Amino acid sequence: MSTALYPGSFDPITFGHLDVIRRAATVFERVVVAVLRNPRKAPLFDEQERIETIGEAIAEECPDIADRIEIAAFDGLTVDFARSRSAGFIVRGLRAVSDFESELQMAHTNRKMAPGIDTVFFMTALEHSYLSSTLVKEIALLGGDVGEMVPQAVSRRLRSRVGL
Ligand code: PNS
Repeated sequence: MSTALYPGSFDPITFGHLDVIRRAATVFERVVVAVLRNPRKAPLFDEQERIETIGEAIAEECPDIADRIEIAAFDGLTVDFARSRSAGFIVRGLRAVSDFESELQMAHTNRKMAPGIDTVFFMTALEHSYLSSTLVKEIALLGGDVGEMVPQAVSRRLRSRVGL
């Protein structure tokens, strides 16, 4: 079975991430969405909330692929977690040229550490290419509407965070 690991902070998941998950599921039989436990920045949502939100978002937006998606938290190296899940590929989304440099560096570094695991990039859909979890959080915390940027599972939680 072909398995891809899609690692990230997902703090929170956006429509851009969901688009990558959906498209990865057209190429790979199983997609493991791997939530980094301790992102460098303190996350707004804890590990459990991020996992639950991703599960709810997939159930709401793409239930047809839900049985082929696993959601799991990890710490340590992405390549080690990929090996533990027997994933031969790492999936990442590219929104713009500005993403390219750091993604290229990560892909080369991961390949050096784990030559058997390749990184595959999906160009984020144009309509989502401006999105970032950081901006979504800032907008929501300042009272703005993020309804077109994130699944309902996320906007519900963001609204309750800011007391709306
Ligand atoms: O959503 P993000 O924050 O852009 O995801 C970054 C992530 C989780 C893919 C990256 O930080 C990562 O892989 N971290 C795990 C530690 C690791 O493997 N570091 C070496 C990467 S070359």
